[in-house]
Parts: sequence; structure tokens; C-alpha cells
Amino acid sequence: MEAAAKPVLLIGAGHMGGALIAGWRLAGALAPDDLMVRDPHPGPEALAAAAWGAALNGPDAALAAANTVVLAVGPAAWRQAAEDIAVHLGKEAVVVSIVAGVAERDLSAAFDGRPVARVMPTTAAAIGRCAASVWANDAHARRRARALFEPLGAVVDLPREAQLHAATAACGSAPAYFYALVEALQSAAISAGLEPAAARILARGALTGAAVLLEASGQDAGDLRREVASPGGTTQAALGVLMGADGLGPLMERTVAAAVARSMQLGASR
Ligand SMILES: NC(=O)c1ccc[n+]([C@@H]2O[C@H](COP(=O)([O-])OP(=O)(O)OC[C@H]3O[C@@H](n4cnc5c(N)ncnc54)[C@H](OP(=O)(O)O)[C@@H]3O)[C@@H](O)[C@H]2O)c1
Repeated sequence: MEAAAKPVLLIGAGHMGGALIAGWRLAGALAPDDLMVRDPHPGPEALAAAAWGAALNGPDAALAAANTVVLAVGPAAWRQAAEDIAVHLGKEAVVVSIVAGVAERDLSAAFDGRPVARVMPTTAAAIGRCAASVWANDAHARRRARALFEPLGAVVDLPREAQLHAATAACGSAPAYFYALVEALQSAAISAGLEPAAARILARGALTGAAVLLEASGQDAGDLRREVASPGGTTQAALGVLMGADGLGPLMERTVAAAVARSMQLGASR
């Protein structure tokens, strides 16, 4: 990570903030001195970072050294968090928010006009497999956000802030869709006659193996799907249901639309 971005101050080290800490450490992107963490109830990653030498819940006076502030608290907590720290930050600090739904205009006002970038990441940041969307009005803030997230996986620049609603719905939330698919397949495998232990191993193995193959082969998902589905075979019978008129396509449209609507609500209510 470029020197100008450090030290990084992480506000909120829960599921996502913890994944960022793990990913930065895994990538060697930060030294212990480069990381300050604030969280009232630090989780395992924050505690591990503190044991490594990062500053956990240090004094307010130390916050002035932070060149980048990563806001990773829940949408209900962001305003209070900003109020608590903005007064202690240096004038040059850049704010990078991963909070779903909250607009740059509101964030920048709460941080006394400092440049703000918004990022929508995924929890696989913890293993260097994040997919992050970045948007900022300010070119300096956009570069800063890219510097933070490039060591963690794929980064996509969004041309418009409004697209962050779609990025949240189709990417930030999407790991949960995959896990729900694994759960549903496990249940269906049990209904079809497998023991629970076998259903767990086989459903997880089949889907995670397919995900790894998707990445390793570089092929389109549709091509890989067609390779599994021989004409007149069992997979084709299954896909007749899964990809039918009331199947996965319309279900995913409704799923993503629900997340977009919620992201818009969160933005409107803060
Ligand atoms: N989880 C994801 O996959 C994901 C993906 C993309 C974006 N995001 C965004 O990331 C943000 C965090 O999500 P999350 O899942 O990590 O939530 P989370 O697990 O609840 O973590 C938020 C953390 O922030 C702490 N916190 C609350 N107020 C604070 C304050 N004033 N100063 C410092 N820390 C404070 C919370 O402590 P307490 O528990 O004690 O309140 C908690 O540990 C959300 O805004 C979400 O939209 C999440």
C-alpha cells in the first residue's frame, strides 16, 4: 500500500472491518505501526491485530496521525462514530466509507468537508479474494480507496455514486446468496435421501469446487454450465426447473431488487 495512505485508522472491526484487517495482514500491506483500530467491543481480528502491535482503542490525540480513515461501522452507528472522531483528525485525512447506503454528501459533511470515497467490498477480503466497487467524486480519494483495496482482491471503479446501490445488492450482499444456496442444496440433498453429514460434505464440495473451477478456468459460467448438462441427462432435467420461467432468474431479480430498495432506504434515513 502506498506510504501516503498510512497510517490507516479503522473505525469498526466487526465482520467486515475484521476481514479488512485479516486481508491487509495476509497481503503484507500494512505494518503494525500503520494500523489503528477503534471498536468498543473488539472481535478476534482486532485483538489479533493488537497482539501483532497495531494500536487498539488508543488515545484520541493519536488519531491526528491517520492519513486514511476507514469507516466500517453499521449504518445506524456511522453518524455517532463520525461525530466522535472528526474533531481529532488531521486536515489532510481522507475518509473511505464501506457503510451501505450512506451518501458521500452526508459523509463529507459529517467529516468537516474532508474528501470521501465509498467502497462496497466483500468479506472474502480476509483471504485476498475481495470484489470491491469504488466510487469517489474526488480523484485523490478514489486513488486512496484503490490503494487500500487493491491488495485485497479485485477492484472496480464505478462512474456514478447511484450505482453503489446495485453494487451493494449484487456484490456486497452476494456472498450471503451463495451461502444460502449451499444451505438449500444441503437440505434438498437430505430430502432426496442422503444422510446429513454426507449432504453437507457433498453440497459444500460440489459448489465450492465449481466456484474454484470457474475462477481457475477463466471460462464463462454459462459455458461451464453447459459442460455439466448433457442433452437428455439429469442436469438438464434439473436446470429445466432451476432456470424455468419462475426459477432462479426471476428470483435473483427480486433478490437484488430487495437489496437495492433497502440500500436506498438506508441512505434516505440517515
Ligand atoms: N458484512 C459484510 O459482508 C459487509 C459487506 C460490505 C459492506 N458492509 C458494511 O460494513 C459495515 C459494517 O458491517 P459489519 O457486517 O462488519 O457489521 P458489524 O459486524 O456489526 O461490525 C460493526 C462494528 O462496529 C462497531 N462500532 C459501533 N459503533 C462504533 C463506533 N462509534 N466506533 C467504533 N466502532 C463502532 C460495532 O461494535 P458493537 O457491536 O459493539 O456495536 C461492531 O464491532 C456496514 O455499514 C455494512 O454496510 C458489510
